[in-house]
Amino acid sequence: MSGHGQKVVIVTGASQGIGQGLVEAYRKAGWSVVATSRGIAASSDPDVLAVQGDIGDPDTARRVVEQALERFGRVDSLINNAGIFIAKPFTEYTTEEYTRFLSVNLTGFFALTQRAVAQMLAQGSGGHVVSITTTLTDHANSNVPSVLASLTKGGLNAATKSLAIEYAGRGIRANTVSPGVIKTPMHAPETHDALGALHPVGRMGEISDIVDAVLYLENAPFVTGDILHVDGGQSAGH
Ligand SMILES: NC(=O)c1ccc[n+]([C@@H]2O[C@H](COP(=O)([O-])OP(=O)(O)OC[C@H]3O[C@@H](n4cnc5c(N)ncnc54)[C@H](OP(=O)(O)O)[C@@H]3O)[C@@H](O)[C@H]2O)c1
Repeated sequence: MSGHGQKVVIVTGASQGIGQGLVEAYRKAGWSVVATSRGIAASSDPDVLAVQGDIGDPDTARRVVEQALERFGRVDSLINNAGIFIAKPFTEYTTEEYTRFLSVNLTGFFALTQRAVAQMLAQGSGGHVVSITTTLTDHANSNVPSVLASLTKGGLNAATKSLAIEYAGRGIRANTVSPGVIKTPMHAPETHDALGALHPVGRMGEISDIVDAVLYLENAPFVTGDILHVDGGQSAGH
């Protein structure tokens, strides 16, 4: 079967934007990829396995890891990229939005990371977990009120350090990439000028900026527990 012997990465939120860019980049680097999202399309590439599912449903995590093992026999890295972002005044968030933030941004992380790390431990050859957060957790902006993004992505930043320390002695690393505003389908083109102006460098980031950061971390065995800001200077100040 194709792919055996190659390293295997699971990418969530893989149907578009940063996730889609990650799938292409890991394939280019010679990895087999398990790509998951609710609407992910099957791939003609035998080294890309698409698994559909809501990442907030723990059964999706079970199916993703089971099918990864069935097709490719191992799991070496997990990129927790699926996520939602809704900016609005704190008092206007609905209970439904709160539940959705927790489901996609946190339950998805928990269910899949737990299974992936268990598999990495069973393999005994280390592993890597990268989560995509947001730089807003480190520098709240009165023009972009987003408490629920900070509540959930800030949790991921903190959990990443905990994971990194718990597993440092067993060769499993954990890092996050903390983006500024990136040109993906999340943002309509007519908003790009205003969003670009939020960054000290005066522009939005590209999908490749985030993909390159993830690949750097993938190939950095001495880096764990890091929050890598790829945010056009925002976390440094304004
Ligand atoms: N773009 C930015 O400016 C920016 C900035 C900071 C952080 N980020 C973070 O970077 C990550 C990727 O962002 P992006 O801009 O590439 O996002 P995007 O273009 O909105 O794509 C989101 C991806 O997540 C998947 N997804 C959404 N809800 C899901 C669910 N319930 N279950 C499974 N998959 C789900 C979507 O696929 P389906 O619709 O097929 O499920 C899609 O593949 C997110 O975590 C986001 O918070 C983005």
